[in-house]
Amino acid sequence: MGMKLPDVVAICAALDAKNCFDYYNIIAGSSTTLGAAIHIVPPMAIKNGYVAPFAAAVRAKITKPVLVAGRINQPQIAEDVLASGQADIVGMTRAMIADPKMPTKAREGRAEDIRACIACNQACIGHMHLGYPISCIQHPETGRELRYPDKPKAETPRKIMVVGGGPGGLKAAAVAAERGHDVTLYERGKQVGGQVLLAQLLPGRTEFGGLITNLTHEAKRLDAKIVTNTDVTADFIKAQKPDAVILATGATPRMPEILGAEDAHVVNTWQVLRGEANVGGSVLVADWRCDWIGLGIAEKLARDGRRVRLAVNGYMAGQNIQAYVRDHWLGILHGLGVQIIPMARLAGVDANTVYLEHVSTDAPFEVPEVETLVTSLGHDSDHALEDALSGSGIELHLVGDCASPRTAEEAVLEGLQAGLKV
Ligand SMILES: Cc1cc2nc3c(=O)[nH]c(=O)nc-3n(C[C@H](O)[C@H](O)[C@H](O)COP(=O)(O)OP(=O)(O)OC[C@H]3O[C@@H](n4cnc5c(N)ncnc54)[C@H](O)[C@@H]3O)c2cc1C
Ligand SMILES: Cc1cc2nc3c(=O)[nH]c(=O)nc-3n(C[C@H](O)[C@H](O)[C@H](O)COP(=O)(O)O)c2cc1C
Ligand code: SF4
Repeated sequence: MGMKLPDVVAICAALDAKNCFDYYNIIAGSSTTLGAAIHIVPPMAIKNGYVAPFAAAVRAKITKPVLVAGRINQPQIAEDVLASGQADIVGMTRAMIADPKMPTKAREGRAEDIRACIACNQACIGHMHLGYPISCIQHPETGRELRYPDKPKAETPRKIMVVGGGPGGLKAAAVAAERGHDVTLYERGKQVGGQVLLAQLLPGRTEFGGLITNLTHEAKRLDAKIVTNTDVTADFIKAQKPDAVILATGATPRMPEILGAEDAHVVNTWQVLRGEANVGGSVLVADWRCDWIGLGIAEKLARDGRRVRLAVNGYMAGQNIQAYVRDHWLGILHGLGVQIIPMARLAGVDANTVYLEHVSTDAPFEVPEVETLVTSLGHDSDHALEDALSGSGIELHLVGDCASPRTAEEAVLEGLQAGLKV
C-alpha cells in the first residue's frame, strides 16, 4: 500500500514548518500499488466521506488550509465535513460529473433535485482509463454537451408510451416529458427499477439503487406519469392509440441447455438474489460476463458461509469492469477464501461435479464436490412486444437491454436518444 497516516501527518507538519505550501490537498489514493490506486477514485463499496478523518489529522498539525476529496457526493456531507472542522475546503469531482448543476441546486435550496454520484466508476474514470471521453452513466449529457446542447421543445406535443421502468425507460420518459410530450411509463412490476433492483442487492452495491431514485425523481419532476403493476400487451398499446412507443423491456437471465443439468442442482443469479434458490453449502459460480454479477454473487454466498469457487470465462474475475472497483472486490473475495478459476468455460454438470473447459485449449477439467451450480451466463433480450407489434405501423423505438443486453450505461444513453427522437 502507500504511505501510512502518521507518516503523512509528519511530512505535512515538516513542510508546513518550513512554510512550503499555501494549502494541503488530502486524498487517500496513490499510484504506488494496485491496492493504493483503488483510493484514487474510490468505488461505492467504500463509505462516503471516509477521507475526512485523515484530513482532520493533518489539519490538527498544520497552519495552512486543508482541502479534502474522496466520496463526498452531496452538499450535506460537504457541510458536515466543514462544520466539524475536518477540512477547510471540500473537493467534489464525480459529484460534478454526475450533476454539473449540483452547486446551483444546493444554493437554490433544491437538494432533493441533486443527482448524487453513486461511485460506480463506470463512465467517468472507467471511460478515461479506456481512452474515451468521460461521461456519467446517470447523466450521459456530461461529456456530450456539444451533441446534446439542450432538449428542444417538441413542435407538436405527442402521446408517448414508454414500456418498462428500468433505467432506459425512466430516462426516455424524463427526456420526452421535458420536451413537452404527454408521457406515460408502464411497468409490469410493483415498483420501477428493472434489473437495478437486483443489482443493488449485491454486497457493497446498495448505492447503485440511487440510479433509479434519481431517474424516477427526474421523470416525475418533469411530469411523466408512471403506472406500475401493468403488464403491457400489444392489444393494450393499440387501444391506447399512442403517437409513438418506446420499448425498454430489458432482458432476462440467459439459460442455455447445460449437459447433465437434469441430474444437478442448477440455479441462476437472479433466483439467488430474489431468495428463490435453496443454495447448497458448496457452490460453483459460472461467470460468463466477468462483471459485477459473478463477483457479487460469489461474495454474497461466501459471506453466507458457503464454500465458493468462481469460474470465469476471461483472464480474471471482473475483467470487464473498472479497475478500482474490480481490484477492491478481488481483495474482498480473497479475504473470504473464494477460489477463482480463470479462463474456464462451463461444459456440463452432474450431481456433485462441474465440468469446465479451458477457453484457449478446450482442455476439459473437473471441479468436484459442488452441491449447487450458480449460472451467471449473461442475458437474453425481451423482445416479445417488438415481435408482436412488427407490421402494426406503430412508431417504435428500442432502448437498452431489449435491443441488446449490455449495461445501465447504454440503457440510459439510449433512453436520452429515444426521448430526443420522438
Ligand atoms: C445483478 C445485476 C447487477 C448489475 N450490475 C450492473 C452494474 O453495476 N452496472 C451496470 O451498468 N449494469 C449492471 N447491470 C445491468 C443493468 O442493470 C441492465 O443493463 C439495465 O438495468 C438495463 O436497463 P433497461 O432499462 O434496458 O432494462 P431493465 O432494467 O431490464 O428493465 C426492464 C423493465 O421492463 C419491465 N417490463 C418488461 N416487459 C414489460 C411489459 N410487457 N410491460 C410492462 N413492463 C415490462 C420489466 O419488469 C423491467 O422492470 C446489472 C444487472 C444485474 C442483473
Ligand atoms: C475522470 C476522473 C479523472 C481524474 N483525474 C485525476 C488527475 O488527473 N489527477 C488527480 O490527482 N486526480 C484525478 N482524479 C481524482 C479526483 O481528483 C478525486 O480525487 C477523486 O475522484 C475522488 O473524489 P470524488 O469522490 O469527489 O470523485 C480524477 C477523477 C476522475 C473521476
Ligand atoms: S459514472 Fe458513476 S461514478 Fe462516475 S460520475 Fe457518474 S455516477 Fe459517479
